[in-house]
Amino acid sequence: MKLVRTIPALRREISRYRRTGRPISFVPTMGVLHAGHIELTQRARRIVGRRGIVVVSIFVNPTQFNQKSDFKKYPHTLAADCAKCRAAGVDIVFAPSARSMYPENFSTWVNEESLSLTLCGASRPGHFRGVCTIVLKLFNQVQPDVAIFGQKDAQQALVIRRVVRDLDIPVKIIVAPTVRERDGLAMSSRNARLSPQERIHALAINEALSQVRAAFRRNIRNASKLKKIVRSHLAKIHGMKVDYVELMDTAMLRSVTKASRGNLLAMAVWVGGTRLIDNIKL
Ligand code: PAJ
Repeated sequence: MKLVRTIPALRREISRYRRTGRPISFVPTMGVLHAGHIELTQRARRIVGRRGIVVVSIFVNPTQFNQKSDFKKYPHTLAADCAKCRAAGVDIVFAPSARSMYPENFSTWVNEESLSLTLCGASRPGHFRGVCTIVLKLFNQVQPDVAIFGQKDAQQALVIRRVVRDLDIPVKIIVAPTVRERDGLAMSSRNARLSPQERIHALAINEALSQVRAAFRRNIRNASKLKKIVRSHLAKIHGMKVDYVELMDTAMLRSVTKASRGNLLAMAVWVGGTRLIDNIKL
């Protein structure tokens, strides 16, 4: 495994692989890698095979944090992340500096103007502008054939898919299922910020989603009822504050009043000072 720290060095590597026609699969991350990220790299490997190249980027992207304090608190664990990537059979870890990604007077942005306005886009103004811009920059740098994203960030995957289609970027987007802890909590770099008590409280998120899934199976289709199941379950837990609970179609991310198969039930919840997101597809 090679750790590449600059854009020119990455270009040299990539052009070498491109010349020999080896397929490139790409997993963008912000580091603090957990089993969910590693699963994405394994999927990347399966897609391109032994001859292909698996690239993981590790870059804590300042422009997608709508709060400076959240960006400052984000951990950096490059050495441990590289060890995990090496063990997982990743070929290249690309970890550029903030200065090289955002040179002085940076002034070009990628804005998706429909799917990114709801859910996390509504609660975190500017977030998806930062995500779309950095992901397109990374696509230009890595030039992957395939890129893998997690269903955990369902809206992010939908937005990126839309941008790639709208701007004719020649990369195939794959979305991989959410990887969970044994007790059901969706893996997230933010889980490390939870106190032991908050960690227990956070289990209510997956419990609420399971209750919605069970209700849908019992033929409850009223969206307000399904959302209420989540709200009332979480209301029982001290220190939890719902940011949003929404039931949406995945084509346009518009709220539905009657649930149908394939709809997305997505939520964001504050557990103390940590904001967690999770979702299920019905
Ligand atoms: P990050 O939060 O590090 O996540 C990187 C990728 O891992 C994303 O595609 C995310 O959906 C996926 N992921 C996170 N937790 C997961 C889990 N429990 N199961 C499956 N996949 C999971 O998302 C970002 O970084 C950034 O926004 C990024 C796309 C890198 C742009 O900066």
